[in-house]
Amino acid sequence: MSTPTSDDYVIRAIRPDEWTSVKQLRLDALRDPVAPIAFLETYEEAVAEPDAFWQERATRSGEGSHTARQFIAEAPDGTWAGTVTVLVEEAGTEDWAGYPIERRQGHVVGVFVRPEHRGTGLIKALFDAGVEWAWQQGVERVRLLVHADNARAQGAYRKVGFGPSGFVVAFSKDAAENELEFVLERRS
Ligand SMILES: CC(C)(COP(=O)(O)OP(=O)(O)OC[C@H]1O[C@@H](n2cnc3c(N)ncnc32)[C@H](O)[C@@H]1OP(=O)(O)O)[C@@H](O)C(=O)NCCC(=O)NCCS
Repeated sequence: MSTPTSDDYVIRAIRPDEWTSVKQLRLDALRDPVAPIAFLETYEEAVAEPDAFWQERATRSGEGSHTARQFIAEAPDGTWAGTVTVLVEEAGTEDWAGYPIERRQGHVVGVFVRPEHRGTGLIKALFDAGVEWAWQQGVERVRLLVHADNARAQGAYRKVGFGPSGFVVAFSKDAAENELEFVLERRS
């Protein structure tokens, strides 16, 4: 079989009724060797969550929601090969870590491509969909946080047009400040 390209995948928003697939993809992401520096929650925390948690997550970020949207890349065999989720952060609020939000912006989280689908370009297709959705929501910029040691993710983000803002934060009160903010400004 030839190496797949991004054209071989269907990029689409998840539906709220697809919460079991949302759960499965997230649990697989949390078992990735890079997970400790890529994601806020652990596999143990996520696997202990009740069905209602996943149902609520799929509703909150599924088709029809204007505050968040999860996109997936569906391979020809139906496998969910990768995902990005974009949250809308309102100016004047605080983000999950307590930092003030100064501008209305998109925040990309939960970025994951299954190892066997990496390097195919589908991460760009996922970002194109996520960023386009964010602009449609009227945000001024889109940002994300990436660990200083996560070189592959940083490489992928630079390829899709994001760059460091210079803002560096800690994931939690006890953690070192090693999360780099990358941003993509809206072109008027
Ligand atoms: C991050 C992720 C989504 C990127 O998707 P991907 O398909 O692997 O990305 P790509 O291969 O298209 O792009 C990565 C780029 O970084 C480059 N890269 C890889 N390792 C690198 C390293 N150690 N240093 C610098 N650049 C590196 C790659 O060469 C590639 O650039 P190129 O296409 O110009 O060669 C995927 O690797 C993944 O799911 N990782 C585990 C979870 C994760 O880290 N999520 C991000 C949380 S912030």
